[in-house]
Amino acid sequence: MTNVTVIGLGAMGRKMADVYIERGYDVSVWNRTPERAAGLKAKLLDSPAQAGDLVIISQVDYQAMYDSFGEADLTGKTLVNLSSDTPERLREAARWVADRGGRLVTGGIMVPPPGIGTPVSYVFYSGAPVEEHREALSVLGDVQYVGEDPGLAMLYYQSMLYIFWSTLTSFMHASALMGSAERLLPYAGAMVRGLAEDGPMAFLPILAKSIEAGIYPGEENNLHMQAVGMEHIVEASRDAGLDTTVPEALKDLFHQAVRLGHGGDGLASVVEAIKAGSRRG
Ligand SMILES: NC(=O)c1ccc[n+]([C@@H]2O[C@H](COP(=O)([O-])OP(=O)(O)OC[C@H]3O[C@@H](n4cnc5c(N)ncnc54)[C@H](OP(=O)(O)O)[C@@H]3O)[C@@H](O)[C@H]2O)c1
Repeated sequence: MTNVTVIGLGAMGRKMADVYIERGYDVSVWNRTPERAAGLKAKLLDSPAQAGDLVIISQVDYQAMYDSFGEADLTGKTLVNLSSDTPERLREAARWVADRGGRLVTGGIMVPPPGIGTPVSYVFYSGAPVEEHREALSVLGDVQYVGEDPGLAMLYYQSMLYIFWSTLTSFMHASALMGSAERLLPYAGAMVRGLAEDGPMAFLPILAKSIEAGIYPGEENNLHMQAVGMEHIVEASRDAGLDTTVPEALKDLFHQAVRLGHGGDGLASVVEAIKAGSRRG
């Protein structure tokens, strides 16, 4: 029987432990608040130092890992941390684990608790190689190893999460503007699907090609026209008594790209305003 230790029994870690138990793994667990292990058919450890060779960590951030393991010897252990933090902190953490004799696999899991262990689940991994533990990691979801730099998994995870949060927030705003989420749903659903597929609404692949090439054709829909359209959405939201934080931010960004000289270019040129922001520091 394969052993796995799960550290962190929040919504995610608890479900991970459950899924490993269901698949016949010998599971041990540790959580800062031990009461959260109640009802789990797993061995509750007194301390993370007692963890086995494969340790899955799911906590609020990476500081929690430092707080949990303290000065524990990690010789021979592979820590797979699926917690959120910045790519830079993941790189620091890889050095911290190596200094204590262990190996750190960093990861970002792309499903909520009910998705763990189902066919829709996938996880970005980076840092130490995953081959030795591929079978055990596959229990949680499809293994997507994106590179040796320990920060990469989080970069992929956060990029996806940014699309997820901003898209869903725009849906919330749009449903408030329309006055009904249910009436909006079929149209929004069709649009979101279309954005990623082929055809005249396939703006994600069109945008991706354009951004990679640094060429932003605007003959059919120039950015100036879209910045004006965005202003109209801000005004419509204000007229409806809604919060305008998000639409105003988009309007400002579009206008910033126009000020940078992209008024006649296409929507993809907004990426230049986004990148200019980081250069301004
Ligand atoms: N929930 C989701 O849908 C989802 C999806 C993908 C990824 N994630 C990521 O998965 C991770 C866990 O999420 P979650 O939803 O399970 O969070 P959660 O329910 O809030 O659980 C947080 C866990 O972190 C532990 N923790 C916090 N600070 C700690 C510290 N200083 N020392 C030791 N343990 C500490 C908590 O222990 P106590 O029980 O003692 O407080 C608990 O086990 C997060 O990084 C999150 O971003 C979540």
